[in-house]
Amino acid sequence: MSSSRGPNPQIVVLDTGGQYCHLITRKIRELGVYCEIRPSEVDSALLKGVQGIVISGGPSSVYEVGSPQVDPAIFDLGAAVLGICYGQQLMAWHLGGTVSPGERGEYGLAWVDIGGQAPIFEGISGRFSIWMSHRDTVTAAPPGFQVVASTETCPIASIADESRRLYGVQFHPEVVHTEHGMEILSNFLFGVAGCVRDWSPRAQAARIEEEIRQVAAGRNIFFFVSGGVDSTVAFSLCLKALGPDKVRALYVDTGLMREGETDFVKDMFESRGKEIFAAEHAEDRFLGALHGITDPEQKRHIIGECFVAVQEAILESGHYLDQNWILGQGTIYPDTIESGGTAKADLIKTHHNRVAGIQKLIAENRIVEPLHLLYKDEVRELGREMGLPEALLERHPFPGPGLAIRCLCSDTEEPVERLDEGWLAPVKSVGVQGDSRSYRPVLVLEEGLADTGIHERAGHLINRTQGINRVVALAASHTPISGWKTTASWIDAVRLERLRRADGIVRRLCLESGFEQHVWQFPVVLIPLGSGMWPDSVVLRPIHSVDGMTARAVPIPPDLLARLCRELLEVEGVNAVLIDLTHKPPGTIEWE
Ligand code: XMP
Repeated sequence: MSSSRGPNPQIVVLDTGGQYCHLITRKIRELGVYCEIRPSEVDSALLKGVQGIVISGGPSSVYEVGSPQVDPAIFDLGAAVLGICYGQQLMAWHLGGTVSPGERGEYGLAWVDIGGQAPIFEGISGRFSIWMSHRDTVTAAPPGFQVVASTETCPIASIADESRRLYGVQFHPEVVHTEHGMEILSNFLFGVAGCVRDWSPRAQAARIEEEIRQVAAGRNIFFFVSGGVDSTVAFSLCLKALGPDKVRALYVDTGLMREGETDFVKDMFESRGKEIFAAEHAEDRFLGALHGITDPEQKRHIIGECFVAVQEAILESGHYLDQNWILGQGTIYPDTIESGGTAKADLIKTHHNRVAGIQKLIAENRIVEPLHLLYKDEVRELGREMGLPEALLERHPFPGPGLAIRCLCSDTEEPVERLDEGWLAPVKSVGVQGDSRSYRPVLVLEEGLADTGIHERAGHLINRTQGINRVVALAASHTPISGWKTTASWIDAVRLERLRRADGIVRRLCLESGFEQHVWQFPVVLIPLGSGMWPDSVVLRPIHSVDGMTARAVPIPPDLLARLCRELLEVEGVNAVLIDLTHKPPGTIEWE
């Protein structure tokens, strides 16, 4: 089904390898125009019939060997073209202009002045703020083009050839920080390219159900469901398309789930038909295999192996590998290879993909992916239209290995160490520095949590302090930091229950206070750092993010924090409550 077609895209975004490609596509769809991504070098013949082409921004330089290119014939198709950032440079370069490395780059907010007339700036005039992220610039516009906007450091911030309907902008209209960004995109779509509004995710159910019936061709569909939004919406579409006799939702209870999670999933599916849901209880197997293990990579590996073994057993015993079954998956658009799927998507899915039985189904093309053309927000909208509960649709993402990667372990007893800036705690967590992952201890600040600039300070400290990649602040504790040490510990039923209770408290209070809506995800992490009868501490990690690739730590309102601390310190064995101040990068969202 991955190769099946959705609606015909009116706009195609050519992917030159930038992080903004999916953002552009999403924004265009938000304006009601169906849009898909293609590799930048796609043959222009395959773009015939589209109303418009957008060339995305990317990190390369047009004059470097091997940099992403476009088929120059796209400029002669008669379709409107908008080049953004690198896209503008590529357009200028191909059509006879010049591109040069700027003296200094321009990153972040800047001011642009509209100096000429161009339909993409219809209704916008004067000076406004924009988001820039470039080093190279267009230094001479190609023949036939006018320069229509400039900034102080970038005299050619926008070019236009109205007769051929070719436009370029050096800045990023798709980024929320660009004032009038949506108006510029809208002008391009409706004023220049002549698009019509044809896209509403809510209206997709009937088309997708028809596709499901075609792909299934009389066969049954099974899903491994997690309780997450994507797999549940995908399953629900199949259920609607084929009816309860022909679909199964299979759920593995690893024992690493959050409080009430298994019941939530069970109730949600069983309420739609008792026979559609089957759970495999494998807690003992997972906990047994994790006994004594402290290394994060080894923990992940073991969980992955257990998953594979349990899934294989389910596939065999349920005869799901017979020819009358196909596999359903909740893959969404950014994860698909056709759309330049992210590296993260590969990483996240490894433990599922390794199941030999599933590999076989994929190899035989016995797979249905009903959401493969949709973005997460569109999946939510579609789910809403289908009447799925809000408690499901607004769920935060939760990692496959569950609480295991939020229950940190240690094989040594080591005290904290006093530094000038705070306390160095010998609890290691993962970070991203440059392109690689780091694994380093954390710095604990004893005070300053109420300061507004504390997140910024944390960032400076990470740059300045050797050997750390994360900073937390103390919110409350039973004992003074000076006496804290790590305890040799791994994942066992007691610590898991401790974390589950802490996580349950955080979820309940966040929901009650409405804070839940202000964060994208809120991991609660148990670290083996404490003192005496309180061997562990709880780290709160509320973050805001768009896609998990980057994230900002979100401050917790003081009254909520006070309630959190009060209840968390009552959990047996919990010594302290710490707040993670680290953005991603340099930290990761999860600690392992
Ligand atoms: P990091 O920690 O890499 O997390 O900043 C980014 C996003 O990915 C999620 N995550 C996972 N999801 N299996 C998953 O299904 C995993 O092994 C995994 N590791 C991280 C994380 O929760 C965040 O949303």
